Amino acid sequence: MKKTKKNNIEFFHKMIKEIYEQPEVVQRIIDEHIDMKNKRVLFKDFAISPKRISGIKRFILVGCGTSYHAALLGKYFLASCAGIESEAEYADEFAGRKARVDKDTLVIAISQSGKTGDEIKAARAAKKQKALVIAITNGIDSPLDRLSDYTIFNQAGQEQALAATKTFTSQILLLAAFAVFIGQNKKTANTKICSQFFKEIGQLPKKIAGILKQNVHFEILANKYCKSEGLLVLGKGFQFPLALEAALKIKESTYIHGEGFAASEFLHGPLAICNKNMPCLFFAPRDECFKELKAIIKRIKSLKRKALVFSSAGNRQLLKLADDVVFLPKTIDIFFPLLAIIPLQILAFHIALLRGVNPDKPRYLNKFVG
Ligand code: M6R
Repeated sequence: MKKTKKNNIEFFHKMIKEIYEQPEVVQRIIDEHIDMKNKRVLFKDFAISPKRISGIKRFILVGCGTSYHAALLGKYFLASCAGIESEAEYADEFAGRKARVDKDTLVIAISQSGKTGDEIKAARAAKKQKALVIAITNGIDSPLDRLSDYTIFNQAGQEQALAATKTFTSQILLLAAFAVFIGQNKKTANTKICSQFFKEIGQLPKKIAGILKQNVHFEILANKYCKSEGLLVLGKGFQFPLALEAALKIKESTYIHGEGFAASEFLHGPLAICNKNMPCLFFAPRDECFKELKAIIKRIKSLKRKALVFSSAGNRQLLKLADDVVFLPKTIDIFFPLLAIIPLQILAFHIALLRGVNPDKPRYLNKFVG
């Protein structure tokens, strides 16, 4: 089998190589867009006038698959960093239902490839109605790039494995930065969150590198969970889009049925499918939602079901409650999904290998759907 080498580590698969590239991808985005000294987010050659930006009344984020999950997270970022309510929608639904927008609408079109047919349709429909379209894409000179008013490039380098990994982290980092940028430009920024953003963002590459060093721990977990019939993934707030993305990564990389839920919605019916061979994975950082998540974890355990919890370092009470815990470096609320998706990607990778699936090219799927 062909292997590649990076930082003296040998990789037999593209997916794991791309997961390991994440510290440098994040660093590249910081170097390009963050002015630490003046605490500003910068977008080079941003030709859209401040007047046009301040006149935007409606924000809509569209994407497909992983890019839709990034869009949904973008909605949470805009609310918390910029105090702006927005909508997130699957690109094909937006185009298919002939959504009405106007010149005071900003459509943020997110696509790793920039070539996804549904995404192009959505962006075209928005442009036709004179909405402003900003693309977030890794596809330089892609159709989406060409038809948008402005493009923010992921700068993630080519992603060859089927699963979007490094492009997802770059999308969500850019969306957080964009939310701060909009807040600063519209003068609606949440000053506390924005100041935390500038303090914390520079720490992310080091924290991601620290997570990657725990690879063996995730491999042990993969051995434990690889025979599961399904994985039910729960999160609240910022962790809800993360739960959806985690479930997609599990499904496409391992063929295990993964399903993501808004944590409290899980109690409104889905709980019934939770059996002994269907562990629950919780994204439960030590934030204001933790109490609620802890109660659901307790409920699952009272039913003698398995709970695997991704939480913040030091949250040791979970050691008594859960079957397994992955501790992530402490960070601010908006960045927890960015750190937490990394061990999940590694877990999905190892489960794929244990189940005999080629994680670089799972069956039936193509890197982009034209
Ligand atoms: O290139 P795009 O971001 O537009 O692709 C969208 C989806 O097809 C893509 O995210 C898909 O869900 C991936 N297989 C996710 O890993």
